[in-house]
Amino acid sequence: MRTLQDLAALGPHGARVRDAVAAIADAAVAIAQKLARAAVEGALGASGAVNVQGEEQQKLDVIADELVFAKLAASGAVAAIGSEERPQLETVEHAEGNLLVLVDPLDGSSNLDVNGAVGTIFTIYEAQRSIDPQAALRPGREALAAGYVMYGPGLVLVLTVGAGTHGFSWDAQEGRWVLTHPDMRIPDGKGYYSVNEAYAPRWSEDARARLARMKEETKLGLRYVGAMVADVHRTLLKGGIFLYPPDTKNPQGKLRLMYEAIPMAMLVEAAGGMAVAEQGKRILDIAPEALHQRTPVYLGSPSAVRYFA
Ligand code: AHG
Ligand code: MN
Ligand code: MN
Repeated sequence: MRTLQDLAALGPHGARVRDAVAAIADAAVAIAQKLARAAVEGALGASGAVNVQGEEQQKLDVIADELVFAKLAASGAVAAIGSEERPQLETVEHAEGNLLVLVDPLDGSSNLDVNGAVGTIFTIYEAQRSIDPQAALRPGREALAAGYVMYGPGLVLVLTVGAGTHGFSWDAQEGRWVLTHPDMRIPDGKGYYSVNEAYAPRWSEDARARLARMKEETKLGLRYVGAMVADVHRTLLKGGIFLYPPDTKNPQGKLRLMYEAIPMAMLVEAAGGMAVAEQGKRILDIAPEALHQRTPVYLGSPSAVRYFA
């Protein structure tokens, strides 16, 4: 069985990002252990702080953020890190490496208290030695790699290093990540649509009409977990579409471009799918202007996404 050690063989950037990916994978194993004991250790619930997103931080958001930072900084491969939980990009002290990693340390944290699936999402770029950190942000099409960890019944790491989308499963007994889902291809013409339809009254009339036509013509079932990692993982395996349209509460959409939309768009496109922000705009072509900027997201099987493309 192939393992995460074979990353160099899985795409053109595998060797280049191997140490950063290994750091995130190590952090994920530690985060999974924290999640398993959270209720017993009183680590569930809010931290009392509000993050830069204006969202109430969960204690585990902070714990996951600190674990990911520590492992990435120790890897020696990373020059700077941008996190959903921190206001600005942060440079790594005495960095030897020159990778820029954007990370959502804990995705779907509203599921924590109900023991639901959550995840960690990341995007890896070559760092630009630029004075202006914001200039470091470039379109997703220039990224070297992207991936997510899903903390479910099993611990799964899905990533792309420039060619194809590959899934690894943590083998706790052997202490290694095993390649269980080589070269994932998104099914077309089946699966589920996945959206928080309670917000439909807040969408544009156009978005409501497009969804109604898609439902009528594709007859897809509905599944919505409320954690992007879980909804995208199912979409990759079963087909269909995950969407988060703009609404009156989030006129730019809720999901963040750098560490939610771009990494998921890379994975879905590398698996043969499509990922657009709105009609005619590919997510990977968006030129970022800010670390925490938000974007609409429509991604999944081409035959379903085309209703929004
Ligand atoms: P995060 O926990 O990192 O803030 O992300 C939550 C996101 C994403 O995981 C999910 O798809 C979306 O929020 C769900 O939003 P709603 O609860 O509004 O449906
Ligand atoms: Mn998230
Ligand atoms: Mn998060």
